[in-house]
Amino acid sequence: MINPLRGMKDLTFEESIRFNHIIQTAFSVAKRYGYGYIETPILEETTLFKRSVGDSSDIVTKEMYQFKDKGGNDVCMRPEGTAGVVRAFISSKLDRQPVKQKFYYYGPMFRYERPQKGRLREFHQFGCESFGEASVYEDFTVITMVSQIFNELGIGFDLQINSLGCSECMPPYRENLITFLTEIKNDLCEDCNRRIGTNPIRVLDCKNEKCQSELKHSPKLIHNLCESCESDFKKLTTLLDKAEIAYIIDTNLVRGLDYYNKTAFEFVSNEIGAQSAIAGGGRYDKLVEFLDGKPTPAVGFAIGIERIMELVKMPEETKEGYYLGAMVPEAVEKLLLLAANKRQSGKVMVEYASKGFKSHMKGADKSHARYALLIGEDELQNGTVWIKNLENKEEKTVPFDTL
Ligand code: HAM
Repeated sequence: MINPLRGMKDLTFEESIRFNHIIQTAFSVAKRYGYGYIETPILEETTLFKRSVGDSSDIVTKEMYQFKDKGGNDVCMRPEGTAGVVRAFISSKLDRQPVKQKFYYYGPMFRYERPQKGRLREFHQFGCESFGEASVYEDFTVITMVSQIFNELGIGFDLQINSLGCSECMPPYRENLITFLTEIKNDLCEDCNRRIGTNPIRVLDCKNEKCQSELKHSPKLIHNLCESCESDFKKLTTLLDKAEIAYIIDTNLVRGLDYYNKTAFEFVSNEIGAQSAIAGGGRYDKLVEFLDGKPTPAVGFAIGIERIMELVKMPEETKEGYYLGAMVPEAVEKLLLLAANKRQSGKVMVEYASKGFKSHMKGADKSHARYALLIGEDELQNGTVWIKNLENKEEKTVPFDTL
C-alpha cells in the first residue's frame, strides 16, 4: 500500500468541508477589503527564496524542497507565498503602475521540517499582500482583517506585535545587539552562537529556555526606534486600542523570514499545542526593490489553514437538494431525466439501484438532502412521485409532470 509522504496529508471529505469553509470565509473578508485573487506557481527558481526569505534563515538553510529539474535549473517548491506574489507583481510590471494593488491567495506550501501536531511538510496558507501603501493605517487594516477572519470563524486568539525598525534605526541597534551577544556568547546555545555572525536578530526568538533567560537584559529595538518608526508604532497601538483589538507587545518577536521591517505581528492560539502560531505577517517595504522591482512599500500576512482546522466553529449543517430513488427498476431512467432537469437550479443525488423504502430513506438521510423523492410501483402506474420534506417531515404524492 502506498501512503502519503511523511508530513503530508490527504484532505478527506469531512475535512474538506472545514477547509472550504475556512477559505470561503477568508476569501469573502478579503474581497470586502478590496483584494483581488492571485495564483502563482508552486515551483520557482531557488534564488527567489534565497533572496527574499533570507540566505541564513532556517527555511532556506534547512527546510527547502530544492532540486535540479530535467533542464538542470535549480528550483524549489515554495515554502511560503509572499516571495512568489512579489515576483509576479514585478514580472507583470505592476510595480510600474501608479495604483495600489492588493492580492489574496491560498495554496500548498512546502517546508522540510520535523513533522508534529500542527507542523506539516505540505501545509496550506491563505494570505494577503498589499502593495503601494506606506501608511501605518494599512498595517492596522491588515491586522483588523486577520482578526475579522478569525472572528467570523469563531476562533479565539492572542495578537503579538513588535516593530523591527527601518534602515535608519535597525543597523545601529544590530551593532549594539552584536556587542551584547558577544559578551554573553558562552552562555548561549550553538545555534545562537552561529547566528551572532549571520543573523543576530534571530537570536532573540531562540526557543531555548536558557538563552531566553540570558536575553532578558538584551537591548530592545522597540526602545531604540527612530522618530518615524516610533511614531508609526504608537499610531498602530493607539488604533488597536480604539478598535478594542487586544495585543501584547513582544520585543523578541522577529519572525522567521528576513524581509520584514517596521510592523511585525503574529496571531497565536493556546488551544492547539506547541505549534501555536496561527497567522503571521508584517511590513516588507524593501522586498520589491530587492527583487529588482521599483521601490514599493508593502504589507501582508498568511494564515496556516491546517493549524485552525480544529478550532473553527462550523455553521449548523443545512439540508439541501433532492435525493431521488426508485423502488422498481423501470422507474430509474425516469428519475435520471428528472435529475438532469432539476440540476439546472439545485443539488440532486440519484440512487441507480432500485431498493426498498427503508434503504432509500437511510440513503436520503446520509446524503443530507432536504427532499426525498421516491417512485414505487403505484407511483409508476399513476404517473406520480412520493415526496418527503426531510426537515419538517411533511409528505405527499404529486403528479410527476408538475415537478
Ligand atoms: P509564516 O509565519 O512563516 O509567514 O507562516 C504563516 C503561517 O503558516 C504560520 O503562522 C502557521 O500558521 C503556518 N505554518 C507555517 N509553517 C507551517 C508548517 N510547517 N505546518 C503547518 N502550518 C505552518 C509566512 O509564510 C509569510 N509569507 C507571511 C506573510 C505574508 N508576511 C507578509 N505577507
